Amino acid sequence: MKGFINTKASLLLLIILLASNCLDISKAQECRPSGVVKGKEAPPGQCNKENDSDCCADGKMYPVYECSPPVSAHTKAHLTLNSFEKGGDGGGPSECDNKYHSDEKAVVALSTGWFNHKSRCLHNITITANGRSVVAMVVDECDSTRGCDKDHDYQPPCDNNIVDASKAVWEALAIPRNQWGWYDITWSYA
Ligand SMILES: *[C@@H]1O[C@H](CO)[C@@H](O)[C@H](O)[C@H]1NC(C)=O
Ligand SMILES: *[C@@H]1O[C@H](CO)[C@@H](O)[C@H](O)[C@H]1NC(C)=O
Repeated sequence: MKGFINTKASLLLLIILLASNCLDISKAQECRPSGVVKGKEAPPGQCNKENDSDCCADGKMYPVYECSPPVSAHTKAHLTLNSFEKGGDGGGPSECDNKYHSDEKAVVALSTGWFNHKSRCLHNITITANGRSVVAMVVDECDSTRGCDKDHDYQPPCDNNIVDASKAVWEALAIPRNQWGWYDITWSYA
């Protein structure tokens, strides 16, 4: 009898596990690419590879996204490094305020879906990683809808889950220098 209950219990557990797995898959599929852009090779002198920036490969297809994953109290994202200073790899001034921002200020760009038509502009988010947290201001968009063109320094479109952050953010999180450029984080609205 005991063995029978255990079999029933483990069968139930298996069903629950399978069901929750399916739910996870449907969640992950909520934000699908809206299309692709085809990579073009950057003309000589274009596409700055500093700070782990990537350049489009000729003929490679890159997915583009209008959406980002849902925001929660612990939204998973990838932290990347950007300079919002004049002459930095961020290109022109920030989209939110048409200004440049010092590398010493904790500022970020969010992927298109999270940027949500400027609705997060000049609001703060809390970024958590490496056992620390930092509050940073949203000043720009990391464009997930376009890329591989002159306007984007021949870099691929942003992934849909990027928090592109100034040096000050990386320093506040005390992330070792040799790991700068790409880091798993969570964030939430501050
Ligand atoms: C790379 O990042 C550093 C630190 O933020 C910054 O000083 C430098 O200007 C960046 N390079 C480019 C090309 O933006
Ligand atoms: C965001 O943080 C900055 C610096 O701490 C602060 O000056 C600003 O008022 C904050 N913005 C909002 C909308 O809370």
